[in-house]
Amino acid sequence: MKKIGIIGAMAQEVERLKGEMEVFRTVSKASMEFWEGALCGTKAVVVQSGIGKVNAAICAQILCDLFEVTHIINTGVAGSLKNEIDIGDIVVSTDALHHDMDAQVLGVQIGEVPQAGCLAFPADPHLQQLAISCCKEVDAGHAVYQGRVVSGDQFISDRRVKDNIVSNFQGFCVEMEGAPIAQAAYLNHVPFVIIRAISDKADDSAKMDFPIFEKDAAARSASLVERMLPLI
Ligand code: ADE
Repeated sequence: MKKIGIIGAMAQEVERLKGEMEVFRTVSKASMEFWEGALCGTKAVVVQSGIGKVNAAICAQILCDLFEVTHIINTGVAGSLKNEIDIGDIVVSTDALHHDMDAQVLGVQIGEVPQAGCLAFPADPHLQQLAISCCKEVDAGHAVYQGRVVSGDQFISDRRVKDNIVSNFQGFCVEMEGAPIAQAAYLNHVPFVIIRAISDKADDSAKMDFPIFEKDAAARSASLVERMLPLI
């Protein structure tokens, strides 16, 4: 029986999902509230992880251990790393890596977790395809892209920092939770996908744009998740 773990970092990223869920129980663990129930006719656990990589990794591991989820979806907002990817557009992850991991001295590539066996953690192809096709149905006004999500414990709002990330990692968008969720899912052999709606351009305009566009972007990503659920 399928059970989908759905992680959003901020309240805006999960509130719509919680509101529409038929809740069976709520469980408090690691200062996070896990809402277990049925969403769009599918068994699901919705949780707000809090912001940043450590929160996200803890959250994903709890979903695996305590709730035995069969799939993980990370929904939320992100900064664009490509000129053509605009505010409101959607990025569906092909894979995810940590842009703030640098253990090159140990003989690995920049971004690579030593001994992980891969540079970027690959997202599930079926979940990617579902997300892309649902997005094309639901979101006529915005483009959907499929590419690498890069994560770090940094809100990127400086053109030079952004350029550095772009040249090192070929990412499509930057955020603060996707890679640790991907890593936890990979280690637990649970298929995952990251879906992010663009709230800003991760440059000097991000401070202004993020508060303006974040709410709509978060809702757009969540509505896409709802569409996917019955089809997984
Ligand atoms: N989430 C949304 N925008 C972001 C940015 N510019 N940097 C990191 N995380 C983000």
